[in-house]
Amino acid sequence: MPLFFKISLFFFYFFFVISSSPLEYNHPLESLALFELTQVTNIVKNSYFPLNVTFHYVGLNEPNKQLVLSWLSSTHHPALPREAIVITRIDQKTHEIIVDLSSVSILSDKIYNGHGYPMLTLQEQTAADELPLSYPPFISSIKKRRLKLKEVVCQGFAVGWYGEKRKSTNRMVKVMCYYLDGTVNLYMRPIEGITITVLLDQMTIASYIDRLIVPVPKANGTDYMGSKRRRSSHESNSIKIVQPDGPSFTLDNGNTVWWGDWKFHVAYDMRAGMIISLASIFDAEKEEFRSVMYRGFVSEVFVPYIDLTEEWYYRTYFDAGEYGFGLCAVELEASKDCPENAKFIDGYFISQDGTPGKMPNVICIFERYAGDIMWRHTELAIPGKVIRKVRPEVSLVVRMVSTVGNYDYITDYEFKQSGTIKVTVGLTGLLEVRGSIYTHNDQIKEEVYGTLIAENTLGAYHDHFFTYHLDLDIDGHENSFVKNNLKTRRVVNKSSPRKSYWAVVSETAETESDARIQLGSSRGALEMVVVNPNKKTEVGNEIGYCLIPGGSATNPLLSDDDYPQIRGGFTKYNVWVTPYNKSEKWAGGLYTDQSHGDDTLAMWSLRDREIKNKDIVLWYTFGVHHVPKQEDFPIMPTLSTGFELKPTNFFQHNPVL
Ligand SMILES: *[C@@H]1O[C@H](CO)[C@@H](O)[C@H](O)[C@H]1NC(C)=O
Ligand SMILES: *[C@@H]1O[C@H](CO)[C@@H](O)[C@H](O)[C@H]1NC(C)=O
Ligand SMILES: *[C@@H]1O[C@H](CO)[C@@H](O)[C@H](O)[C@H]1NC(C)=O
Ligand SMILES: *[C@@H]1O[C@H](CO)[C@@H](O)[C@H](O)[C@H]1NC(C)=O
Repeated sequence: MPLFFKISLFFFYFFFVISSSPLEYNHPLESLALFELTQVTNIVKNSYFPLNVTFHYVGLNEPNKQLVLSWLSSTHHPALPREAIVITRIDQKTHEIIVDLSSVSILSDKIYNGHGYPMLTLQEQTAADELPLSYPPFISSIKKRRLKLKEVVCQGFAVGWYGEKRKSTNRMVKVMCYYLDGTVNLYMRPIEGITITVLLDQMTIASYIDRLIVPVPKANGTDYMGSKRRRSSHESNSIKIVQPDGPSFTLDNGNTVWWGDWKFHVAYDMRAGMIISLASIFDAEKEEFRSVMYRGFVSEVFVPYIDLTEEWYYRTYFDAGEYGFGLCAVELEASKDCPENAKFIDGYFISQDGTPGKMPNVICIFERYAGDIMWRHTELAIPGKVIRKVRPEVSLVVRMVSTVGNYDYITDYEFKQSGTIKVTVGLTGLLEVRGSIYTHNDQIKEEVYGTLIAENTLGAYHDHFFTYHLDLDIDGHENSFVKNNLKTRRVVNKSSPRKSYWAVVSETAETESDARIQLGSSRGALEMVVVNPNKKTEVGNEIGYCLIPGGSATNPLLSDDDYPQIRGGFTKYNVWVTPYNKSEKWAGGLYTDQSHGDDTLAMWSLRDREIKNKDIVLWYTFGVHHVPKQEDFPIMPTLSTGFELKPTNFFQHNPVL
């Protein structure tokens, strides 16, 4: 650090950290840069030459938490190790390789022999999708249906696991085909009755079944591009968000964001998508940043469809572990996906052959003012006076959109000045529909596992479970999980004319089993707080943050012994708390494709470890049971759901005065 800064005044120092920090250090949690991805590819390919290496995942192997925390608290920010975790298939085996970028060497290389496979690559999915189009039995199936081959497009789907014993080389997808012919909305025009199984490592069709012919739903009415909306008598005028002086947040080169009292880091990962790290809030009274969340990200998205027919039963997807929530992220369109005042961040990923690629504008950050009120009061009780004070609500949103095949998930973290972090997932895009012989409900006499949403079009019942990994560090990393049960009590003596009241009965979870919660009906009468038992407010309350479920704390409806539910066992409880363990990131297991459910959060948690006054991780699952509606056709209006993390005796008083 130059001498000038050492001798400068405190506020100069503060200014220095904000404005010049990007030139001084690499953030230890920054995603791998393009040149680092190239390095990784070269190191791994060279060490296996002349074998073919296929890359399924490359991400930052983040430094140990203690190192990152000491880096954060030191003023000179020592360079920390840069390591990559690489998951490859080499010679039909899964390798887990740790690459050290500073010494340009492989630190470890482990062959994984357990159940399950790495994420599917985009290239192999595309290759699998093209196979049927030149496969003679498929061509004759299309002829038989009197369809035009050039209007057919296909898409591969993960096959799940239903108790079969498969060879360890059987990575596969089942390919479904659709008919365009007059629409771009392929998902509304499935070609039913055909099941095509593709072996991915061999890239061959392993089995082909053409079982029945069902009419392809018509193209008319499926268009969403033209948007020939009827003119209403009250057309809305255009709306713009204007910040004449520019945004008031700072985004440095290392992707640290400073806004109001908040400071946090944003990163992109091929699997998790957006990762928020080191979120802390400046406490003006204590004149220090106080930590809230070490790391928060989408750990898994479990989407079981309910249809039991031959062509459908296997569709029970894990959108993060099988397809990559980050890999499926899409470029955001300025002024549409994000408002005019947004700034964008690029992401970098690696393709199957090791070529790094850029995902431009994959995350956006913007200040939101939607006309809401942060707090207000009008005081009319003081004779002769009207006192009023209103503070408008302005917040900061960080957004990524992941389009996993037909579905679009809009994932937001909204940072509020009051200290709340609001997490929202918006579901939109296209339904998965089954082609059907039925054109009216009155004709249906069998179980169809869906809603008839248009002629010949059944919107299949399904669920979406979003599981977030929330490593909260409330004002330090030793925390406890407290359940505040709101219990009804009877008034037993005549002390009051009232007959009942409620009281708060607090219970601190000692081990993991104490912290598993199925929200269901108890939702309104339970407060869940992560506290720092080592710190109290001036009046003696434990400092904490509370988890506030949204309206969608969904519990699974499948039975525990059903295969998809075994694999998705982590959805059984809405809340789990585990002690921090760097390798426990993916609730559905590291190898989710065809997993057997033996490496899930539900299994780790069976150890029933101690979680009181420890570095703990909160896992929260919410979601929707989707019974499709006619309004979801031909494209779904966004349905939003989520949760909030809200300061609970964290500050001495309202922090936004
Ligand atoms: C590597 O992949 C290429 C292209 O798919 C193929 O032609 C070649 O035979 C493969 N080499 C080995 C050693 O498997
Ligand atoms: C499409 O449907 C509309 C009514 O929904 C009808 O007026 C129109 O004629 C149809 N077009 C075709 C090509 O079938
Ligand atoms: C009535 O019960 C309450 C709570 O159980 C107790 O605090 C209070 O002393 C009792 N009053 C009388 C009059 O017994
Ligand atoms: C961390 O988790 C992994 C996977 O559950 C486990 O194998 C390992 O023993 C754990 N490490 C510690 C220190 O508990």
